[in-house]
Amino acid sequence: MSLSVVILAAGKGTRMFSDHPKVLHKLANQPLLQYVVNIAKSLNPENINVVVGYKSKEVESAFPNEKLNWIIQKKQLGTGDAVKYAIPYLKGSQTIVLYGDVPMVELDDLKQLIKKTKKGLGVLTFKKINPTGYGRIKRIENTIEGIVEEKDCDNLERKITEINTGIICVDTNNLINWLSLISNNNSQKEYYLTDIVALARKEKIKISSHEANSEITILGINSKSELAMMERALQNKKTNLLMEQGVTLLDPSRTDIRGNLNCALDVEIDVGCIFEGTVEIGPNVKIGAYTHIKDSVISANTIIKPYSHIDSANIGINNIIGPYARLRPGTETHTDVHIGNYVEIKNSKIGSGTKINHLSYIGDSIVGTNVNIGAGTITCNYDGVNKHQTIIEDNVFVGSNSQLVAPVKIGAGSTIGAGSTITKDTPENELSLSRTKQTSIPGWEKPKKN
Ligand code: UD1
Ligand code: CA
Repeated sequence: MSLSVVILAAGKGTRMFSDHPKVLHKLANQPLLQYVVNIAKSLNPENINVVVGYKSKEVESAFPNEKLNWIIQKKQLGTGDAVKYAIPYLKGSQTIVLYGDVPMVELDDLKQLIKKTKKGLGVLTFKKINPTGYGRIKRIENTIEGIVEEKDCDNLERKITEINTGIICVDTNNLINWLSLISNNNSQKEYYLTDIVALARKEKIKISSHEANSEITILGINSKSELAMMERALQNKKTNLLMEQGVTLLDPSRTDIRGNLNCALDVEIDVGCIFEGTVEIGPNVKIGAYTHIKDSVISANTIIKPYSHIDSANIGINNIIGPYARLRPGTETHTDVHIGNYVEIKNSKIGSGTKINHLSYIGDSIVGTNVNIGAGTITCNYDGVNKHQTIIEDNVFVGSNSQLVAPVKIGAGSTIGAGSTITKDTPENELSLSRTKQTSIPGWEKPKKN
C-alpha cells in the first residue's frame, strides 16, 4: 500500500502570544514542524502535504530544503476543512494526518497504526488520566463508534478517558468521500475531521485503533510553558540515551543537546553545557561546566575546561582547552595542544605540543609544532579590507604582547622579543625584535599640579 501524509499546521497558536506561527517555535533549536516533517519522511510516503494558513509564507520559507507540498487553507474552519484542501494531492492509497504542533510523535506508533488500518480507518488513541480538552473515543463493546469533541460531550461522554490524539490513518478514497459528507453542525461550527469515524461506522468500514506508547508523544504545544515542558522531556530522552551508552553527566537536568551529540566511552560532561549541531566526542574527554560546543570534533583524552566556546572546530588528542577559550570556525589543533584563558582562535591550524596559554588572538594562521605563544600575542590578520595569513614555523617562541602583522612568516626556531610589532618575515633560529631600546632620563621630574 502507498501512503500520503497530511500535516495540519494552519493555526496561529494564539496562546503562544507571538507574532510568529506556532509551528516555527523551537524545540531543541529546531522548529516544531521540522520534527513532524522528519517523522513523515521516515514513513517513505508518496508525498508530504503541509496545510498552512496563518503566516503561511513565513512557515514555508523556514523549510527551503525540504520537498514539501504547501497547501494554503484560507480560513481555519476546522480540521476536516483543512484536510479537504489536500484532497487533490493525495496520491497514496492510504492517508495519514499528522499535526505540526505534535512534535514528539513516535515512528513505531505511526507504523503500527498504518499497519492496523489496512483499507479501513485507524485512530491513534491514548488513555489519559485527565482527558479534558480532547475528543473522546466512544466504543460499543470494543468497537469504536465515534469521536465526540469535548464541547459536544454529555456528562457520561465527558467521563471517557480514552482520547483521540488527532492522528488518523485512512483509506484515501473513503476519506475523500467522507469529507464531502461532513457538516459544521456542532457547538463550534467547525468541520470536524473526527466526524469521519461515525461515517465509517455507518458504512460498516473497519475502524481500528492503536494506543500510543507514551503521553509525551501525543501532546500538542499550545503555550510557552508547554513548550518548555516538552523541551525538558526531549532533553531527558537525549540524556538518558547518552547515559545508557556510558556517558557521565554530572547533572542530566542541566545538560542541553540541541542536535546530535555522539560520545565514545568514558566521556564526562559537567553541568550547564550546551551542544548544538553535530558534535563528536572521543574517549576519556572531559567537558567543563558551562561550555558551549557546536558542530565540532573533540578527540580522545582532551580536557575542555569551563566556560569555553567551540564552534566548527576540530580539536586533537590530549589537548587542554580553556577555561574561557573561544575556538571559532576553522580551528584545528593537533595533539598535546594547550589553549588557555581568553584566547581566541579562528581559521587556524595549531601544531602538536604548541601552547597558547593566555590572552591571544590567532586568526588565519598556520602554527607549527612546539611553538610557545606568549600572553597578549595578536596576529593582525585584517588590514581593513582583506584578511592575510600568518605562518609561525616549528619551535618558535613568541614573546608576550607581540603583534604579528600579516602576511608574515616567523622562521623555524626563531624568537620574537616581547613587545615587538613584526611586519617582516623573520629568519630561522634568530632573535627578532622591533622595539626601541629602553632609556631612562636622569633627573626627570614629575609634573606639578597648578
Ligand atoms: C482535535 C480533535 C480532537 C483531538 C485533538 C487532539 C477535531 C475536530 N478534534 O481537536 O478530537 O482530541 O485535536 O489535540 O479534529 N488546524 C488547521 N486548520 C483548521 C483547524 C485546525 O490546520 O482549520 C490545525 C491546528 O493548527 C492544530 C490542529 O489542526 O495544530 C488541531 O486543531 P484544533 O482546532 O486545536 O483541534 P482540537 O480542538 O484540539
Ligand atoms: Ca487544540
